[in-house]
Amino acid sequence: MSAGAIDYASLTPGQKLGIKYFSVAMILFLAQLLFGMIAGLQFLYPELFYNQLDFSVNRMVHINAMVVWMLYGFIGSVYWLVEDESGVELVGAKLGNINFWVLTSAVTVVVLVYLFVQTGAGRIESIWFINEGREYIEAPRWADIGIVVCVLVFFYNVAATFTKGKWSGISGVLVLDLIALAGLYLAGMVYTTNISMDQFWWWWVIHLWVEATWEVLVGCIMAWGLMKTLGARRKIVTTWLYIEVALMFGSGILGLGHHYFWIGTPEYWLTVGGFFSALEPIPLVAMVVHAVYDAGKHGFQSSNHPALAWLIAHAFGNFLGAGVWGFIHTLPQINLYTHGTQWTTSHGHLAFFGAYATIIIAIIYMAVQRLRGDVWMSADLRGGWKWKWSLILQNVGIMGMTVALLIAGYEQSFIERAIGGSTWQAYFEAQTHPWFVQGMYWRVVFGAMMTVGLVLMLWDLLTIGAGETRSAKKVGIPEPAAESGDVPPAAPQPAG
Ligand code: HEM
Ligand code: HEM
Ligand SMILES: [Fe+2]
Repeated sequence: MSAGAIDYASLTPGQKLGIKYFSVAMILFLAQLLFGMIAGLQFLYPELFYNQLDFSVNRMVHINAMVVWMLYGFIGSVYWLVEDESGVELVGAKLGNINFWVLTSAVTVVVLVYLFVQTGAGRIESIWFINEGREYIEAPRWADIGIVVCVLVFFYNVAATFTKGKWSGISGVLVLDLIALAGLYLAGMVYTTNISMDQFWWWWVIHLWVEATWEVLVGCIMAWGLMKTLGARRKIVTTWLYIEVALMFGSGILGLGHHYFWIGTPEYWLTVGGFFSALEPIPLVAMVVHAVYDAGKHGFQSSNHPALAWLIAHAFGNFLGAGVWGFIHTLPQINLYTHGTQWTTSHGHLAFFGAYATIIIAIIYMAVQRLRGDVWMSADLRGGWKWKWSLILQNVGIMGMTVALLIAGYEQSFIERAIGGSTWQAYFEAQTHPWFVQGMYWRVVFGAMMTVGLVLMLWDLLTIGAGETRSAKKVGIPEPAAESGDVPPAAPQPAG
């Protein structure tokens, strides 16, 4: 096949699986934005789809679609890199394929139930078949169990492949992290009628996923991505990875306490949560320094400009959305006023998009490059306006939404909490204040900009590199043998 044409047949088994996961991820990303737009419009026009497609359902589909597409994106990225990193073909590809279809069918059924059943009596059967009622991970219990099984299959595929091939610093961290990621999901399945206890365990999944295990996972993906797009040295990216992981777990685990301030847990969580979560931005600074250092060292010469641009967007988005926007409301003295207002939503949007959507998009651009037969994706890319504009529209869109929500949240903290003393009446005063209403309006305007950006990007992903005849730019300095791996000297060194 010539460069520029779709060359699916020549992909390795792991890469083929990666493409499947990425495709579903992008469909769900689009669904996420459409349901977000409906939910956003319902703030302005509360009667819109009332009793047909209620806000509660749209919001749930919006955030669950997000969690699922990001998990698909991560699984796809790991399948994409596992063979390259281990040096052998994926182990258990057939099983992995069946797994993909089982998981995707289950996700489809769950979404259909969300949309068509929507509500049910508060009985134990509803937990099993309709909705478990835990924000972000609402999937009913039958699906929970299915998800755990599917993740175990995925884990087997990945660990077995590294074991058959070779291990590295990156893959070691990755596999240990996947154990923690899968194990934590179990904490979200514990059922108790005590709401404080229920929330306590639920946060183990939500916080320890996004602020510990997901961060480490994207650290591994970033390390690999920088080696591939820039030719960064393995020794350097691995050293950074170890530092970041140590800092991340050091602050993120007890940082969990910032969700325990007001849910009925002992008071020492105010101190513990406040202190450790305030340290959480530090590893994120390290990640920005790392990415910019590597890119600068290579004069921003990359084999894949869109991917590198999205990797850099990830480094800054993670730092701003999680680090800065997280830090501003993490001290209990401040959180007392901001808790559960639009500040939270402002942070939630910028953090999830900045830290996770961006890096998955970067790896998808790398996958598309390979799918087109390793075509040129550096400077003077044909039709390069598409990736640039879609990047600009999505990032300006998310920043616009974030600022609009922050203004609304500031107003809520001020009028409802600080001045009004959190009374029922103060709540409504805050909800009808012009700053709040205008914030809700601007969210929809910037959300529309984002949606246009995403549609443009999907078009770009389907067409980028088509008809391109130049092959990918070679990057990086050949690595001296002694530096090429983290494999101890006793183990056989792979050639190259
Ligand atoms: C990529 C990493 C992160 C993501 C994806 C993320 C996302 C979120 C989301 C979605 C919520 C809202 C949860 C809810 O529904 O109640 C939240 C809450 C919160 N986050 Fe983060 N976050 C991240 C990192 C951080 C960091 C590093 C900090 C602190 C430095 C932080 C501080 C907080 C605090 C204090 C809350 C509670 C807000 C409230 O009281 O309403 N987050 N985060
Ligand atoms: C078209 C753009 C979008 C619109 C109009 C939109 C709208 C909304 C609305 C209306 C809510 C409910 C807020 C509430 O309950 O007060 C929400 C929640 C949420 N959205 Fe979006 N959204 C959009 C894009 C995104 C993106 C790109 C992400 C992340 C990648 C995201 C992540 C979230 C999260 C994490 C929550 C829960 C936040 C919380 O509990 O504070 N949204 N969104
Ligand atoms: Fe947290």
